[in-house]
Amino acid sequence: MDSFTDSKKDWYKRMSFYQIWVRSFADGNGDGIGDLYGVYDKLEYIQSLGVDGIWFSPIYPSPNADYGYDISDYKDIHPDFGTLDQFKKVLNRAHALGLKVIMDLVVNHTSDEHPWFIESRKGKDNPYSDYYFWRDKPNNWESLFEGKAWEYDPVRKQYYLHIFAKKQPDLNMDNPKVREEVKSIMRFWLDMGVDGFREDVINFISKKEGLPNGIPFLPAVNGMPHYKDGPHIHEYMAEFRQVCNEYDCFQLGEGPMTTVKSALKYLTGPTKSLDMMFSFDHMMADCIYTEYVHRPFSLVKLKKAFTKWQKALDGRGWNALYLENHDHPRIISRYGSEHFWRESGTMLAASYIFQQGTPFVYQGQEIGMTNIRLLSIDDYIDVSSKTNYHTYHLKDSVEDRLKRIHVSSRDSSRTPMQWDDSPNAGFSTAKPWFFVNSNYKRVNVAAEEKDKYSILNFYRRCLALRKSSKTLIYGTYSEYFPKDKELYIYERVLGNESYLIICSFSRISHRLKFPDKYAKRRGKLVLCNYPVEERRKGRLRPFETRVYRYRKHTVK
Ligand code: GLC
Ligand code: CA
Repeated sequence: MDSFTDSKKDWYKRMSFYQIWVRSFADGNGDGIGDLYGVYDKLEYIQSLGVDGIWFSPIYPSPNADYGYDISDYKDIHPDFGTLDQFKKVLNRAHALGLKVIMDLVVNHTSDEHPWFIESRKGKDNPYSDYYFWRDKPNNWESLFEGKAWEYDPVRKQYYLHIFAKKQPDLNMDNPKVREEVKSIMRFWLDMGVDGFREDVINFISKKEGLPNGIPFLPAVNGMPHYKDGPHIHEYMAEFRQVCNEYDCFQLGEGPMTTVKSALKYLTGPTKSLDMMFSFDHMMADCIYTEYVHRPFSLVKLKKAFTKWQKALDGRGWNALYLENHDHPRIISRYGSEHFWRESGTMLAASYIFQQGTPFVYQGQEIGMTNIRLLSIDDYIDVSSKTNYHTYHLKDSVEDRLKRIHVSSRDSSRTPMQWDDSPNAGFSTAKPWFFVNSNYKRVNVAAEEKDKYSILNFYRRCLALRKSSKTLIYGTYSEYFPKDKELYIYERVLGNESYLIICSFSRISHRLKFPDKYAKRRGKLVLCNYPVEERRKGRLRPFETRVYRYRKHTVK
């Protein structure tokens, strides 16, 4: 019997979420930096989207080596963003509006400015000595963000492990004291009333004993076989699950490089420790591992990834659906077309929101924000973009190297939110901390509020439709024409009802085709991203999407 699931509620399955990366969302106190005062003022807007919850990327004190993912105090709020009291106000108001709130739990590593690390580096006799991994001799692992995974510390005169940036030393989760700290952090926020956690790189927290050498000559990820799904991961996850079980909350893990097989161990059966997991396969339809290793977009690859996860989890686990977050360039610039901006932005919404799972929408995605193209690498702020630029393909021209940053940088998702066409896109009355995308006069909330056919209003329609239909929430998923290079067609079925979702990824008009099963049936067109009057019989316009509903007795 599954002791974990029994006490859990399934409310998260009916929900959809909005992700906020606070620094770039809305500046409430006029210093150019987004904050919790700004968030407070925008809660009604978030509610108006039809989502049911908010995921906050880290809002804790942080020196920002990795913009919040390097935490120096887990139980406070970054002074740039406000105070704990302001957070409580946001939380209470969100709850009053019917929005759940989940926090980012980043416990694979801390900041090197966290008091635990400051103590730990003092020496081997320190009570915090074993909170991190210290070695006289490093192994050959490389970090994902900044060169070798080991950095020499002149104070302790040893090397410490960092799988991400140098300023992100890895916590030693094998130390029971560290696990107690994690539980205490969880309780701190749960006691305050938050509704769950998004758990950062959670499949990396258990490292193989002895930290053996990794694969030689493989850049960045060579140690991964020794820290992904490590030997004690499910024991540690069970401990954290126990804490969550004391509350009415849910857990969502981020699983970089995870496979269906390993994800199922977190999501089902006796080792179930998470309710959902962010997987990455579908984010690699135009790249290999990260967007920096670019390849042309392949719809067939995208569909294969979607369908693999839909099928594998159906009736067993539950998917977390997303196309954007703070780690990826904007989706229109990747899988859609900036030329067919509105058309592809709306179609992409329908391509994932109606799948089985809980949809996540990232700030700015709902208005179709696109990538920025800055003129110099010095204008970029993300540590991984900088490392990529300064490490790989050094013989290429500056233009070519910058082009790679343009398609790959995480900074494209971190530009200020575009609220209106006033200076600074209405994000702040002061000069914003980072570049505003120059398209803000056209791409902004205020303009899209007024336009019935805007991307913003289409997201609202998608989220409302999903919420209104048990079939779209719980129904089974099947895909048709998996080899078609231009069309993505999937259905959701529950009892007598089915929905057929048709998405064209073509830049030109394309023949509309129906699966045999539906050819002779008359469905009701419940959603389309072009004005219905403009519809053309038997053809789809560029990036057109249509959603049809069928009921059994409608067979002709
Ligand atoms: C996750 C976060 C990312 C961060 C990394 C290290 O992938 O989403 O932003 O850089 O973990 O914490
Ligand atoms: Ca501010």
